[in-house]
Amino acid sequence: MNIKLGILGATGKVGSELLKLLENWPESKLTLSVPPVLFGTEKSAGKKILFKNQELEVKNSIPENFEGLNVLISCANGEVSEKLVPEALRRGVKLVVDTDSFYRMDPDVPLVTIGVNDEDLDWHKGIIAGPNCSTAQLVLPLKALHKAFGLKRVVVSTYQSVSGAGKKAMDELLQQTRSSIESGDLTETETQRKLIREQFAFNVIPKISKILDSGYSKEEWKVVVETRKMLHSPDLAITCTAVRVPVLVGHSESVNVQLLNSFSLQEVTEVLKNHTGIKLWDDKDSYPMPTDVAGSEPVHVGRVRVDESAENALDLWVVADNLMIGAALNALRIAEVAAQRHKIWSKGKKET
Ligand SMILES: NC(=O)c1ccc[n+]([C@@H]2O[C@H](COP(=O)([O-])OP(=O)(O)OC[C@H]3O[C@@H](n4cnc5c(N)ncnc54)[C@H](OP(=O)(O)O)[C@@H]3O)[C@@H](O)[C@H]2O)c1
Repeated sequence: MNIKLGILGATGKVGSELLKLLENWPESKLTLSVPPVLFGTEKSAGKKILFKNQELEVKNSIPENFEGLNVLISCANGEVSEKLVPEALRRGVKLVVDTDSFYRMDPDVPLVTIGVNDEDLDWHKGIIAGPNCSTAQLVLPLKALHKAFGLKRVVVSTYQSVSGAGKKAMDELLQQTRSSIESGDLTETETQRKLIREQFAFNVIPKISKILDSGYSKEEWKVVVETRKMLHSPDLAITCTAVRVPVLVGHSESVNVQLLNSFSLQEVTEVLKNHTGIKLWDDKDSYPMPTDVAGSEPVHVGRVRVDESAENALDLWVVADNLMIGAALNALRIAEVAAQRHKIWSKGKKET
């Protein structure tokens, strides 16, 4: 299969992870006919990025530059997706994999985490969206439990790293940390707060993205509605509190799940262990943390225990590299699985 891949947002955090993955991606799984074509802002145009010992030049993201591509992974931002994804499709791109939130809840766009709802790829009409990073790692163990025991209710609290907000947020955390230590005042970072009004360093911020009229943040809302969409459970009882913590890479989640059917701890661990994409930490003395998972592919699940306070309930601790499973790896796998299922060139119909 003759794939000419473009990466929109190639100079960002997700874009650089994608390029790293592509350097070692087995050709048998996704054959690119030429090196990927890289796109950034006008400011980055002309910049050179090394890929397999070859210098690739970043192009300006203007619609004409999408001519000749057939697959585009878009990892810039919502405004860019809104404007440029239709332009890419108009210029002959057959499949856009969008990591941003703009198209995720569009009923005509499948929202896919590979290992959860691969079959939804089949009805795409040109765009397939990947979920929010905190949803992507949550939905994998939820899918495994849902399939085996049925989900009744989910309560999730996230501990999200700053890389979830891109490379500028990572730079800000590092700058704030350095200057706080140098000045000896751990809260004196006014001049280094550019992205959000709160300080990232030495802090825990119970608000990611804007607060909606409901009182939930946009990030919390995304976790709720995207989980329901991917699990095909529009009425699933699920609530979320999303929190930013001063970690560079790796989101963690405390997840309380109430199941419809009774279970034994052994059955649950078997189900989780055998689900694709999950690494289960079932030794009581070890548990996954962001420092263990940066750069790794699976979703790590540990601290699995029975919650005695409610019927058929259990607690889990879920950790993953948000740039991988939450964005770059999932996007690449979507393209790969769509190619394997012959769904890049043929667009399907949504089953009703
Ligand atoms: N970070 C995560 O964990 C994560 C997880 C899931 C989904 N996502 C989604 O992935 C996307 C990228 O996130 P990120 O963390 O990689 O952000 P980032 O580090 O801030 O990178 C943003 C990228 O978009 C490019 N860009 C910005 N404005 C543009 C424009 N007007 N035209 C063309 N390119 C433009 C930037 O180019 P320049 O370098 O030239 O400015 C850069 O390459 C976002 O939509 C985000 O919602 C991120």
